[in-house]
Amino acid sequence: MIQPISGFSKKTKAEKIEWLAENYLQNNPNSVQILENYWNDNPSLQQLHDDFIENTISNYYLPFGIAPNFLINEKLYALPMVTEESSVVAAASNAAKFWLERGGFKAEVISTEKNGQIHFNFFGSEKSIEDFFEIVKPKLRDSIQAIEKNMKARGGGLLELSLVDKSHILEGYFYIHATFETLDAMGANFINSCLEQMAQTFEEEARNFEKFQQKETFPEVVMSILSNYVPECLVRAEVSCKVEELTTKQYEGKQVAEKFVRAIEIAKTETRRAVTHNKGIMNGIDAVVLATGNDFRAVEAGVHAYAARNSYYGSLTHAKIEDGVFTFWIELPLAVGTVGGLTSLHPLTKLAFEILQKPYAKQLMKILAVAGLAQNFAAVRSLVTTGIQKGHMKMHLMNILNQLNATKDEKNEALEYYKENAVSHSSVVSFLENLRS
Ligand code: MEV
Repeated sequence: MIQPISGFSKKTKAEKIEWLAENYLQNNPNSVQILENYWNDNPSLQQLHDDFIENTISNYYLPFGIAPNFLINEKLYALPMVTEESSVVAAASNAAKFWLERGGFKAEVISTEKNGQIHFNFFGSEKSIEDFFEIVKPKLRDSIQAIEKNMKARGGGLLELSLVDKSHILEGYFYIHATFETLDAMGANFINSCLEQMAQTFEEEARNFEKFQQKETFPEVVMSILSNYVPECLVRAEVSCKVEELTTKQYEGKQVAEKFVRAIEIAKTETRRAVTHNKGIMNGIDAVVLATGNDFRAVEAGVHAYAARNSYYGSLTHAKIEDGVFTFWIELPLAVGTVGGLTSLHPLTKLAFEILQKPYAKQLMKILAVAGLAQNFAAVRSLVTTGIQKGHMKMHLMNILNQLNATKDEKNEALEYYKENAVSHSSVVSFLENLRS
């Protein structure tokens, strides 16, 4: 039976691997080799990766791809994308090329405000907490001067503080809502440091406030943390073209446009469809978020909460046909950074920023919104015309061939054959069996 282990983090990498192999991988004689195969030969590069997290035993590669031809506000970008899903980069490239020939993408940042809360308990009178908040507010501001100094010098920092009474929903629950401008930083560390400092000052000052005479009526901080719900950090991207320009080999532009708009309406109405629809959008966004070393969990959480802001979960994209013009747009919150965090540490992330021509955070927001819009365009256009499996399975063909250990020659023959034939796992198995016999 496997026993719990203490002091694991103190062990060397070799000891950690040995322990893992002995306890969990006894049936795999190659396990250590597999882990070591992914170590980097360059010791300082490996050390960098070892230091990113605790207990690193290997590196986990994902493909780093490029989707070129993104014309965004008249500037041409090649998007770095990190993803495991075979068809994502191909679909993005396809959509980029399509819109390149139709005027490209227009994008604008609507707002850039981030926020965080100091959640606290208070069971005294509403009036006394309001009075205290007014008195303590400037002291809270003062208490973060040192933390804020650099951010403020660059034009950012704490914006507003307000008291929010939630005691009608949860007895004794209040919070201080703090808003911030964090410029090119995603700002999580900055915001959390400010909040924790203000929380401490808040409690200290409360002890000296004469209206909270009894200990029971002192406010008590429960926690202080930024919110990943950032509906005041919004970006919008849009494309449009004449309906006829959507014509494909098999479908009239008008039909494509009408079915497309209908597909968006369905995603606005039905959660089961909306979730998959938005997942397709995030295929594009997450891939660029990952390539640029940003926090994709934060982005995901914020985006999905926004999709549910009207008490139901709906599409993040919108489409309309007016006077024969098809317009398709996305509006969503994206809190990302181009400085800080992993952005200047991971060599590939640094390179991704160079590829993107060193964008400011606002530019990155626009690029990400466009990546999501393009990905959604590619998916929905396929869905309402040929279906997605044809393109998807074509891209997946190489994975199947690799899974079946196809040789280089077999792969070439398969690629030729599947130019004309539908790909499925069983068909590739038979194809290889035939070749091999
Ligand atoms: C697959 O990763 C994404 C799609 O399912 C998105 C969609 O259905 O819109 C194709």
